Amino acid sequence: MSDSYRPAFHFTPPSMWLNDPNGLVYYAGEYHLFYQYHPHSTVWGPMHWGHAVSKDLVNWQHLPIALYPDERGLIFSGSAAIDWNNTAGFGKEAMVAIFTCNNHTYDDKKRVEDQNIAYSTDRGRTWTKYAGNPVVPHPGNLTDFRDPKVFWHQDHWVMVLAAGDRVLFYISPDLKHWEQSGVFGGGYGSTDGVWETPDLFQLPVNDSDSRWVLTVGVGSGAYAGGSGTQYFIGDFDGKTFISENPKETVLWMDYGADFYAPQSWNDEPNGRRIVLGWMSNWQYARLTPTETWRGIFNIPRELSLADTKDGPRLVQAQIKELQTLRGAHHHWQNETVMPGENLLKNISGDCLEIITNVLVNPQATSFGFKLRIGADEQTLVRYDIQKQELIVDRSKSGIGDFHEAFASVQAVKLRPVENTIQLHILLDRCSVEVFANDGETVISDVIFPSTSSMGLELFTEGSELKITQLDVYQLTPAVFTS
Ligand code: FRU
Repeated sequence: MSDSYRPAFHFTPPSMWLNDPNGLVYYAGEYHLFYQYHPHSTVWGPMHWGHAVSKDLVNWQHLPIALYPDERGLIFSGSAAIDWNNTAGFGKEAMVAIFTCNNHTYDDKKRVEDQNIAYSTDRGRTWTKYAGNPVVPHPGNLTDFRDPKVFWHQDHWVMVLAAGDRVLFYISPDLKHWEQSGVFGGGYGSTDGVWETPDLFQLPVNDSDSRWVLTVGVGSGAYAGGSGTQYFIGDFDGKTFISENPKETVLWMDYGADFYAPQSWNDEPNGRRIVLGWMSNWQYARLTPTETWRGIFNIPRELSLADTKDGPRLVQAQIKELQTLRGAHHHWQNETVMPGENLLKNISGDCLEIITNVLVNPQATSFGFKLRIGADEQTLVRYDIQKQELIVDRSKSGIGDFHEAFASVQAVKLRPVENTIQLHILLDRCSVEVFANDGETVISDVIFPSTSSMGLELFTEGSELKITQLDVYQLTPAVFTS
């Protein structure tokens, strides 16, 4: 019964608890996805690394657990890289996992965290923990010291690490010996919550220019409340990161409640920067109403930078591979919709992709989509024309009483571009993701509607709505095998 929430095309664990994506790396035709996993419970506990692989980021094969906790502690978040030059001496093209061991048994009050490595020479199927662990010992004075993201940069390895309200940078020739090379933070961006799961990468701004992007999870006090993800734009000289924006600038990757701990794939074969986030929020992650499994990832997103009047800003697109799931298609062009009319009354579903360009009519007050409509339920994606705000309202989306913060409404400023609002909406059985104005703004939320709530409506309020283009696709399930 509760499995009615099991998504059709978003990744979930075969059973039990999942949080952050870990160890994202592409190797020998496979996208690897490891993840924070508790195989014995549907709530967080002793962390393992679960594992899955995919050829296309859409269809996944579950693999056995890759890393188990041991006497060094729980296996917290981290990354993976292919050691192309065998710098560590673990063997030709070894896959190396770099992760935090968390052991709070040393001292009840203090969390002790250090950085460790393990390697695989059989495409991630079996793992050996390095005998010389930890490779970055606990510094003694920090409670939070975790989530290493490692990548190769020019002629050395770089590790980005979260430590309280800052990010630390380390460099290494061989993944075994690390020295601290920089620090960023301490007053930059959102500092309301503990910083976690950083990532750092370079993206082009245009043909001749590029920037470095530092993404950081904020454990609480994020835009939609609870945990969320911010990012910084700046420069990286191989040792440390320098933000080009004032300290007060806060940039959010997602304005919804459910996008956390994102990580990008190392060695993506087409040179794309693709990130995967955990579609939940620490406020209520352990309470969501699923029974045999808990935890879902957002749809992978391809990142780029737009050159805006405020400087370069992240733009996010649903990966193009998702288009392989498109089924029955409805298309409209140059339609006018009147208040009270519903162009979509003959379409229903819980797995839909909706793409539209709408001309903003100043006579109207708002327009949008009602999704998963049922007797007393609906999830609202609305554009408020007067306030110029994009809104996702899940206050009546279904079950929401498991936590006081859940039945929420998220609103964010969104200005029309050439008098047009563009929306790209992805609906799965327990989620909605709205990419607006070609990915300039994203809102991601989980929802828990009744199975019978399948209705769909396009509405306008106050005056007529002119739609330049509207496409609605039924999406077919992705394949998840064991
Ligand atoms: C982020 C996080 C990480 C930590 C992991 C533990 O969601 O708190 O900082 O490594 O989850 O599961």
